[in-house]
Amino acid sequence: MIEATDRGTLYERIGGEAAIAELVDEFYDRVLADPLLAPFFADTRIDRLQEMQREFFCAALDGPIRYAGQSLAAAHSGRGIRTRHMARFVDHLLETLRSRGTDEQDTLDIISRINTYAMDITGEVGVDG
Ligand code: HEM
Repeated sequence: MIEATDRGTLYERIGGEAAIAELVDEFYDRVLADPLLAPFFADTRIDRLQEMQREFFCAALDGPIRYAGQSLAAAHSGRGIRTRHMARFVDHLLETLRSRGTDEQDTLDIISRINTYAMDITGEVGVDG
């Protein structure tokens, strides 16, 4: 659902494609430096993942870009990703947004948008396990 307000879409508010590319780069630096999360990405081509993630974020924040990757459920199933991993992943996103000086309300809107996909990633309900 597109929730454009008089302040524009989330995509526009955080600075569009270029800002999302930077955000994703900084976010993955944090994710890959985290010993709880890094092992999941051991066999992943990070450049390709970042490209898909940029696309995904642009689409999820109502930008003019369509995500053309696999479904999130297909990309993540069978990897053993649990709610605690998802929660840590979202913490890194929160810290990345805050460290970039993103408006607090936009930050919270982005986090809640991303949390709506938690079930697809873990197959579990909730983010506090
Ligand atoms: C809502 C949160 C998340 C979103 C929106 C997300 C999004 C994505 C996207 C768009 C891709 C690319 C899919 C493709 O290649 O077509 C991907 C791949 C991947 N994600 Fe996530 N992800 C999330 C959470 C996580 C978490 C918590 C982990 C592990 C701790 C994880 C691990 C991976 C791995 C390992 C791949 C690469 C698969 C491969 O090597 O092809 N993701 N994710």
